[in-house]
Amino acid sequence: MIIDLRSDTFTKPSPAMLQAMFTAAVGDDVFGEDPSINQLEAMSAEMFGMEAAVFCPSGTMTNQIAIKVHTQPGDEIICEKLSHVYIYEGGGIAFNSGCQVKTLQGERGRISAEQVLEGINPSDIHKAKTSLVSLENTTNRGGGSCYKFADIELIKEVCVQNNLKLHLDGARLWNALVAKNETPKQYGEVFDSISICLSKGLGTPVGSLLLGQKEYIKKARRVRKVFGGGMRQAGYLAAAGIYALENNIERLEKDHQHAKQITAALIKKEFTGVIMPVETNIVIFEVLAPYTPKSFAAELAKFSILSMPISANQVRMVTHLDITETMIKNLVAVIEAL
Ligand SMILES: Cc1ncc(COP(=O)(O)O)c(C=O)c1O
Repeated sequence: MIIDLRSDTFTKPSPAMLQAMFTAAVGDDVFGEDPSINQLEAMSAEMFGMEAAVFCPSGTMTNQIAIKVHTQPGDEIICEKLSHVYIYEGGGIAFNSGCQVKTLQGERGRISAEQVLEGINPSDIHKAKTSLVSLENTTNRGGGSCYKFADIELIKEVCVQNNLKLHLDGARLWNALVAKNETPKQYGEVFDSISICLSKGLGTPVGSLLLGQKEYIKKARRVRKVFGGGMRQAGYLAAAGIYALENNIERLEKDHQHAKQITAALIKKEFTGVIMPVETNIVIFEVLAPYTPKSFAAELAKFSILSMPISANQVRMVTHLDITETMIKNLVAVIEAL
Protein backbone atom coordinates (compact mmCIF):
# COMPACT_ATOMS: atom_id res chain seq x y z
CA MET A 1 0.00 0.00 0.00
CA ILE A 2 1.53 3.28 -1.13
CA ILE A 3 0.45 6.30 0.90
CA ASP A 4 1.02 9.14 -1.51
CA LEU A 5 0.82 12.50 0.25
CA ARG A 6 2.93 14.46 -2.21
CA SER A 7 -0.09 16.31 -3.61
CA ASP A 8 -3.83 16.03 -4.08
CA THR A 9 -3.07 15.88 -7.80
CA PHE A 10 -2.01 12.24 -7.43
CA THR A 11 -5.57 10.90 -7.15
CA LYS A 12 -6.79 8.32 -9.65
CA PRO A 13 -10.39 8.32 -10.91
CA SER A 14 -12.68 6.06 -8.87
CA PRO A 15 -14.63 3.25 -10.60
CA ALA A 16 -17.82 5.37 -10.42
CA MET A 17 -16.04 8.36 -11.97
CA LEU A 18 -14.60 6.13 -14.70
CA GLN A 19 -18.06 4.78 -15.39
CA ALA A 20 -19.39 8.34 -15.80
CA MET A 21 -16.50 9.08 -18.19
CA PHE A 22 -17.01 5.88 -20.14
CA THR A 23 -20.65 6.65 -20.85
CA ALA A 24 -20.25 10.40 -21.58
CA ALA A 25 -21.94 11.99 -24.57
CA VAL A 26 -19.24 13.78 -26.61
CA GLY A 27 -18.80 16.04 -29.62
CA ASP A 28 -16.27 18.52 -31.00
CA ASP A 29 -15.86 21.15 -28.29
CA VAL A 30 -13.89 23.54 -30.53
CA PHE A 31 -17.18 23.80 -32.42
CA GLY A 32 -19.08 24.09 -29.10
CA GLU A 33 -20.71 20.73 -29.76
CA ASP A 34 -19.63 18.61 -26.82
CA PRO A 35 -22.76 18.12 -24.68
CA SER A 36 -20.82 17.04 -21.59
CA ILE A 37 -18.52 20.07 -21.70
CA ASN A 38 -21.47 22.37 -22.33
CA GLN A 39 -23.22 20.81 -19.34
CA LEU A 40 -20.17 21.16 -17.09
CA GLU A 41 -19.61 24.79 -18.10
CA ALA A 42 -23.27 25.69 -17.55
CA MET A 43 -23.39 23.80 -14.26
CA SER A 44 -20.29 25.47 -12.82
CA ALA A 45 -21.30 28.96 -13.99
CA GLU A 46 -24.68 28.44 -12.35
CA MET A 47 -23.06 27.24 -9.11
CA PHE A 48 -21.06 30.45 -8.86
CA GLY A 49 -23.85 32.69 -10.16
CA MET A 50 -21.60 33.76 -13.03
CA GLU A 51 -22.67 34.08 -16.65
CA ALA A 52 -20.29 31.66 -18.33
CA ALA A 53 -17.40 29.23 -18.01
CA VAL A 54 -14.76 27.68 -20.23
CA PHE A 55 -13.27 24.22 -19.66
CA CYS A 56 -9.48 23.96 -19.91
CA PRO A 57 -6.89 21.22 -19.44
CA SER A 58 -5.20 22.78 -16.40
CA GLY A 59 -5.31 25.38 -13.67
CA THR A 60 -2.18 26.91 -15.11
CA MET A 61 -4.04 27.49 -18.35
CA THR A 62 -7.14 28.97 -16.70
CA ASN A 63 -4.98 31.33 -14.62
CA GLN A 64 -2.87 32.35 -17.59
CA ILE A 65 -5.89 32.92 -19.83
CA ALA A 66 -7.52 34.98 -17.07
CA ILE A 67 -4.46 37.20 -16.77
CA LYS A 68 -4.10 37.56 -20.52
CA VAL A 69 -7.71 38.68 -20.94
CA HIS A 70 -7.61 41.15 -18.03
CA THR A 71 -4.36 42.89 -18.97
CA GLN A 72 -2.33 44.64 -21.65
CA PRO A 73 1.44 44.17 -22.14
CA GLY A 74 3.34 46.45 -19.77
CA ASP A 75 0.67 46.32 -17.06
CA GLU A 76 1.45 45.37 -13.48
CA ILE A 77 -0.27 42.61 -11.52
CA ILE A 78 -0.44 42.53 -7.74
CA CYS A 79 -0.19 39.18 -5.97
CA GLU A 80 1.33 37.53 -2.93
CA LYS A 81 4.97 36.54 -3.38
CA LEU A 82 4.29 32.81 -3.09
CA SER A 83 1.32 32.85 -5.47
CA HIS A 84 1.13 29.91 -7.85
CA VAL A 85 0.56 32.30 -10.76
CA TYR A 86 3.91 33.90 -9.97
CA ILE A 87 6.23 31.14 -8.79
CA TYR A 88 4.89 27.97 -10.38
CA GLU A 89 3.60 28.85 -13.83
CA GLY A 90 6.88 28.96 -15.72
CA GLY A 91 7.10 32.73 -15.93
CA GLY A 92 3.80 32.63 -17.82
CA ILE A 93 2.75 36.13 -16.77
CA ALA A 94 5.73 37.58 -18.62
CA PHE A 95 5.68 35.03 -21.42
CA ASN A 96 1.97 35.10 -22.23
CA SER A 97 0.83 38.54 -21.15
CA GLY A 98 4.00 40.67 -21.20
CA CYS A 99 3.15 41.96 -17.73
CA GLN A 100 5.26 42.57 -14.67
CA VAL A 101 4.35 41.60 -11.14
CA LYS A 102 4.39 43.44 -7.83
CA THR A 103 4.66 40.79 -5.17
CA LEU A 104 3.49 41.43 -1.62
CA GLN A 105 4.68 39.65 1.49
CA GLY A 106 1.47 38.31 2.93
CA GLU A 107 0.44 36.11 5.82
CA ARG A 108 0.60 32.45 4.74
CA GLY A 109 -0.09 33.44 1.16
CA ARG A 110 -2.88 35.92 1.93
CA ILE A 111 -2.69 39.65 1.35
CA SER A 112 -4.75 42.51 2.82
CA ALA A 113 -6.71 45.38 1.32
CA GLU A 114 -4.24 47.87 2.88
CA GLN A 115 -1.33 46.12 1.19
CA VAL A 116 -3.12 46.09 -2.15
CA LEU A 117 -3.92 49.78 -1.83
CA GLU A 118 -0.28 50.56 -1.05
CA GLY A 119 0.85 48.41 -3.98
CA ILE A 120 -1.11 50.29 -6.63
CA ASN A 121 1.13 52.43 -8.80
CA PRO A 122 0.28 56.12 -9.13
CA SER A 123 -0.91 57.34 -12.51
CA ASP A 124 2.56 58.38 -13.68
CA ILE A 125 4.18 57.67 -17.05
CA HIS A 126 7.24 56.26 -15.28
CA LYS A 127 5.19 53.54 -13.65
CA ALA A 128 3.56 50.41 -14.99
CA LYS A 129 -0.22 50.56 -14.98
CA THR A 130 -1.61 48.41 -12.18
CA SER A 131 -4.55 46.58 -13.70
CA LEU A 132 -5.12 43.31 -11.87
CA VAL A 133 -5.05 41.79 -8.41
CA SER A 134 -4.75 38.00 -8.19
CA LEU A 135 -5.64 36.14 -4.99
CA GLU A 136 -5.23 32.46 -4.16
CA ASN A 137 -7.70 30.58 -1.94
CA THR A 138 -6.77 28.22 -0.41
CA THR A 139 -3.12 29.12 -0.61
CA ASN A 140 -0.82 26.34 -1.75
CA ARG A 141 2.51 27.54 -0.32
CA GLY A 142 0.65 29.15 2.57
CA GLY A 143 -0.21 25.65 3.81
CA GLY A 144 -3.82 25.58 2.64
CA SER A 145 -4.77 28.71 4.56
CA CYS A 146 -8.11 30.37 3.78
CA TYR A 147 -9.07 34.01 3.42
CA LYS A 148 -11.75 35.46 5.66
CA PHE A 149 -14.45 36.39 3.21
CA ALA A 150 -14.74 39.86 4.75
CA ASP A 151 -11.07 40.47 3.88
CA ILE A 152 -11.75 39.56 0.26
CA GLU A 153 -14.65 42.03 0.23
CA LEU A 154 -12.30 44.76 1.46
CA ILE A 155 -9.85 43.95 -1.34
CA LYS A 156 -12.72 44.08 -3.82
CA GLU A 157 -13.58 47.58 -2.59
CA VAL A 158 -10.03 48.74 -3.23
CA CYS A 159 -10.18 47.18 -6.70
CA VAL A 160 -13.46 48.91 -7.55
CA GLN A 161 -12.21 52.27 -6.29
CA ASN A 162 -9.03 51.96 -8.34
CA ASN A 163 -10.43 50.38 -11.47
CA LEU A 164 -8.60 47.08 -11.02
CA LYS A 165 -9.86 43.63 -11.97
CA LEU A 166 -9.86 40.90 -9.34
CA HIS A 167 -8.94 37.31 -10.22
CA LEU A 168 -9.12 34.25 -7.99
CA ASP A 169 -6.85 31.26 -8.37
CA GLY A 170 -9.29 28.87 -6.75
CA ALA A 171 -7.44 25.65 -7.51
CA ARG A 172 -8.48 24.53 -4.02
CA LEU A 173 -11.41 26.88 -3.47
CA TRP A 174 -13.57 23.82 -2.72
CA ASN A 175 -11.50 23.15 0.38
CA ALA A 176 -11.99 26.74 1.54
CA LEU A 177 -15.75 26.60 0.91
CA VAL A 178 -16.05 23.45 3.01
CA ALA A 179 -13.70 24.61 5.77
CA LYS A 180 -15.31 28.05 6.07
CA ASN A 181 -18.87 27.04 5.29
CA GLU A 182 -19.05 29.51 2.41
CA THR A 183 -20.91 29.31 -0.90
CA PRO A 184 -19.63 29.53 -4.49
CA LYS A 185 -22.13 32.33 -5.15
CA GLN A 186 -20.43 34.58 -2.58
CA TYR A 187 -17.26 34.26 -4.65
CA GLY A 188 -19.07 34.74 -7.95
CA GLU A 189 -20.36 38.09 -6.72
CA VAL A 190 -16.95 39.46 -5.85
CA PHE A 191 -14.48 38.22 -8.45
CA ASP A 192 -14.20 39.25 -12.10
CA SER A 193 -12.75 35.84 -12.92
CA ILE A 194 -12.38 32.59 -11.02
CA SER A 195 -10.22 29.59 -11.86
CA ILE A 196 -11.35 26.35 -10.25
CA CYS A 197 -9.63 22.99 -10.51
CA LEU A 198 -11.32 19.62 -10.75
CA SER A 199 -8.10 17.64 -10.61
CA LYS A 200 -6.97 18.51 -7.07
CA GLY A 201 -9.25 17.75 -4.12
CA LEU A 202 -12.14 16.77 -6.38
CA GLY A 203 -10.14 13.93 -7.87
CA THR A 204 -10.59 14.12 -11.64
CA PRO A 205 -7.69 13.19 -13.90
CA VAL A 206 -7.77 16.50 -15.83
CA GLY A 207 -9.55 19.78 -15.94
CA SER A 208 -10.11 23.30 -14.72
CA LEU A 209 -12.75 25.91 -15.40
CA LEU A 210 -12.47 29.64 -15.86
CA LEU A 211 -15.59 31.51 -14.82
CA GLY A 212 -16.65 35.05 -15.62
CA GLN A 213 -19.17 37.20 -17.41
CA LYS A 214 -20.24 36.28 -20.97
CA GLU A 215 -18.09 38.77 -22.87
CA TYR A 216 -15.04 37.95 -20.76
CA ILE A 217 -15.41 34.20 -21.33
CA LYS A 218 -15.89 34.79 -25.06
CA LYS A 219 -12.46 36.43 -25.12
CA ALA A 220 -11.08 33.66 -22.87
CA ARG A 221 -12.29 31.03 -25.34
CA ARG A 222 -10.31 32.73 -28.10
CA VAL A 223 -7.17 32.83 -25.91
CA ARG A 224 -7.66 29.16 -25.01
CA LYS A 225 -7.49 28.38 -28.74
CA VAL A 226 -4.38 30.52 -29.16
CA PHE A 227 -2.72 28.71 -26.24
CA GLY A 228 -3.52 25.38 -27.89
CA GLY A 229 -6.10 24.43 -25.31
CA GLY A 230 -9.03 23.84 -27.65
CA MET A 231 -9.91 20.17 -27.18
CA ARG A 232 -12.21 18.00 -29.25
CA GLN A 233 -14.14 15.12 -27.64
CA ALA A 234 -13.03 16.16 -24.18
CA GLY A 235 -16.50 15.45 -22.82
CA TYR A 236 -15.00 12.26 -21.40
CA LEU A 237 -13.01 14.54 -19.09
CA ALA A 238 -15.93 16.87 -18.45
CA ALA A 239 -18.02 13.89 -17.35
CA ALA A 240 -15.45 13.26 -14.62
CA GLY A 241 -15.85 16.91 -13.62
CA ILE A 242 -19.63 16.67 -13.44
CA TYR A 243 -19.30 13.52 -11.34
CA ALA A 244 -16.82 15.31 -9.04
CA LEU A 245 -19.02 18.37 -8.54
CA GLU A 246 -21.94 16.13 -7.67
CA ASN A 247 -20.11 13.70 -5.40
CA ASN A 248 -16.73 14.89 -4.17
CA ILE A 249 -17.16 18.28 -2.52
CA GLU A 250 -18.66 17.54 0.89
CA ARG A 251 -16.24 14.70 1.54
CA LEU A 252 -13.33 17.20 1.59
CA GLU A 253 -14.11 17.61 5.28
CA LYS A 254 -12.62 14.13 5.75
CA ASP A 255 -9.35 15.23 4.12
CA HIS A 256 -9.22 18.18 6.50
CA GLN A 257 -9.69 15.86 9.49
CA HIS A 258 -6.92 13.60 8.19
CA ALA A 259 -4.58 16.59 7.90
CA LYS A 260 -5.32 17.43 11.54
CA GLN A 261 -4.58 13.83 12.58
CA ILE A 262 -1.20 14.02 10.84
CA THR A 263 -0.47 17.32 12.60
CA ALA A 264 -1.39 15.86 15.98
CA ALA A 265 1.17 13.10 15.43
CA LEU A 266 3.91 15.41 14.16
CA ILE A 267 3.55 17.95 16.94
CA LYS A 268 4.72 15.42 19.54
CA LYS A 269 8.03 14.73 17.81
CA GLU A 270 11.31 16.45 18.51
CA PHE A 271 12.26 16.47 14.84
CA THR A 272 9.22 18.67 14.09
CA GLY A 273 9.78 22.41 14.09
CA VAL A 274 7.15 24.99 13.18
CA ILE A 275 3.97 23.50 11.73
CA MET A 276 1.91 25.93 9.69
CA PRO A 277 -1.63 26.14 11.11
CA VAL A 278 -3.70 23.47 9.36
CA GLU A 279 -6.99 24.80 8.02
CA THR A 280 -7.64 22.43 5.14
CA ASN A 281 -5.80 19.50 3.49
CA ILE A 282 -2.21 20.75 3.41
CA VAL A 283 0.33 20.16 6.18
CA ILE A 284 3.60 22.07 5.88
CA PHE A 285 6.10 21.60 8.67
CA GLU A 286 9.69 22.31 9.49
CA VAL A 287 11.98 19.29 9.87
CA LEU A 288 14.74 19.50 12.48
CA ALA A 289 17.86 17.41 13.19
CA PRO A 290 18.63 14.58 12.86
CA TYR A 291 16.62 14.88 9.64
CA THR A 292 16.68 17.18 6.67
CA PRO A 293 13.54 17.41 4.54
CA LYS A 294 15.13 15.04 2.02
CA SER A 295 16.31 12.48 4.57
CA PHE A 296 12.95 12.64 6.35
CA ALA A 297 11.09 11.99 3.09
CA ALA A 298 13.52 9.15 2.33
CA GLU A 299 12.88 7.64 5.76
CA LEU A 300 9.11 7.73 5.22
CA ALA A 301 9.54 6.28 1.74
CA LYS A 302 10.96 3.12 3.37
CA PHE A 303 7.41 2.62 4.68
CA SER A 304 5.85 3.42 1.26
CA ILE A 305 4.84 6.87 2.50
CA LEU A 306 5.52 9.61 -0.01
CA SER A 307 5.89 13.23 1.09
CA MET A 308 7.34 16.31 -0.57
CA PRO A 309 10.36 18.31 0.61
CA ILE A 310 9.42 21.85 -0.47
CA SER A 311 12.22 24.00 0.89
CA ALA A 312 15.55 23.76 2.68
CA ASN A 313 13.74 23.05 5.96
CA GLN A 314 10.13 22.12 5.16
CA VAL A 315 8.18 19.04 4.12
CA ARG A 316 4.64 19.05 2.76
CA MET A 317 1.93 16.41 3.05
CA VAL A 318 -1.41 16.79 1.29
CA THR A 319 -4.45 14.66 2.08
CA HIS A 320 -6.96 13.72 -0.61
CA LEU A 321 -9.65 11.28 -1.62
CA ASP A 322 -7.30 8.37 -2.21
CA ILE A 323 -6.01 8.62 1.36
CA THR A 324 -8.05 6.39 3.64
CA GLU A 325 -8.49 6.30 7.40
CA THR A 326 -6.34 3.13 7.48
CA MET A 327 -3.54 4.91 5.62
CA ILE A 328 -3.66 7.78 8.11
CA LYS A 329 -3.47 5.30 11.00
CA ASN A 330 -0.41 3.66 9.38
CA LEU A 331 1.23 7.01 8.82
CA VAL A 332 0.58 8.11 12.39
CA ALA A 333 2.08 4.85 13.68
CA VAL A 334 5.18 5.35 11.53
CA ILE A 335 5.61 8.96 12.69
CA GLU A 336 5.21 7.89 16.32
CA ALA A 337 7.90 5.22 15.91
CA LEU A 338 10.47 7.51 14.28
C1 LIG B 1 -2.84 27.14 -6.17
C2 LIG B 1 -2.66 26.49 -7.49
N1 LIG B 1 -3.03 27.14 -8.60
C3 LIG B 1 -2.89 26.60 -9.82
C4 LIG B 1 -2.38 25.34 -9.97
C5 LIG B 1 -2.18 24.82 -11.37
O1 LIG B 1 -2.92 23.73 -11.68
P1 LIG B 1 -2.46 22.70 -12.81
O2 LIG B 1 -1.48 21.79 -12.17
O3 LIG B 1 -3.74 22.03 -13.20
O4 LIG B 1 -1.88 23.49 -13.93
C6 LIG B 1 -1.98 24.60 -8.86
C7 LIG B 1 -1.41 23.27 -9.02
O5 LIG B 1 -1.08 22.57 -8.08
C8 LIG B 1 -2.12 25.20 -7.58
O6 LIG B 1 -1.73 24.57 -6.47
